Amino acid sequence: MSKNLVLIGFMGVGKGTIARALVRKSGMFGLDSDDLIESIENRKVKTIFKEDGEEYFRAMEKKTAKWLSGNVTNTIISTGGGFFKVDDLNKIGKVIYLKSSFDGIIERLKAQPNAKQKFDKRPLLKDMKKAKALFDERADQYELKADIVINVEKRSINSIIEEILLVK
Ligand code: S3P
Repeated sequence: MSKNLVLIGFMGVGKGTIARALVRKSGMFGLDSDDLIESIENRKVKTIFKEDGEEYFRAMEKKTAKWLSGNVTNTIISTGGGFFKVDDLNKIGKVIYLKSSFDGIIERLKAQPNAKQKFDKRPLLKDMKKAKALFDERADQYELKADIVINVEKRSINSIIEEILLVK
């Protein structure tokens, strides 16, 4: 049993924030797939997309997934919005989908103090029409991969993490 919790969901839904709150509350360890890739590559996700393209980044996600499933236990793992497509996601741990509407996600991002940075670092959020199309394409796919679906829209971090710790 891996005993990891894997948080999936669209860009900007709050996977990182919720993972950090869960780490504080549960005493489990925390890791983030984008952070792991950035540290191996010694460059930002945005730069990887620009210099080597999305396909290269997706291959790094697969490599990271393999490593996580073989080496990591008792950890809250937050993931990039496209990470859910890796093979054997469920082997890494219990998969929790953080669900919100597209408008809810954009509102949340715009309300952040460093909103511009939050948009800038995400190449797939540059074009809102394309981002919405990606959201529509992925919405059902996230649900299919999830062991647990948690509605996060317009909810406090505390109530979200309490629900996750209750149902996990
Ligand atoms: C992506 C989401 C990003 C990052 C990359 C691609 C995606 O992570 O992995 O820009 O395909 O949805 P966040 O979900 O943390 O923004």
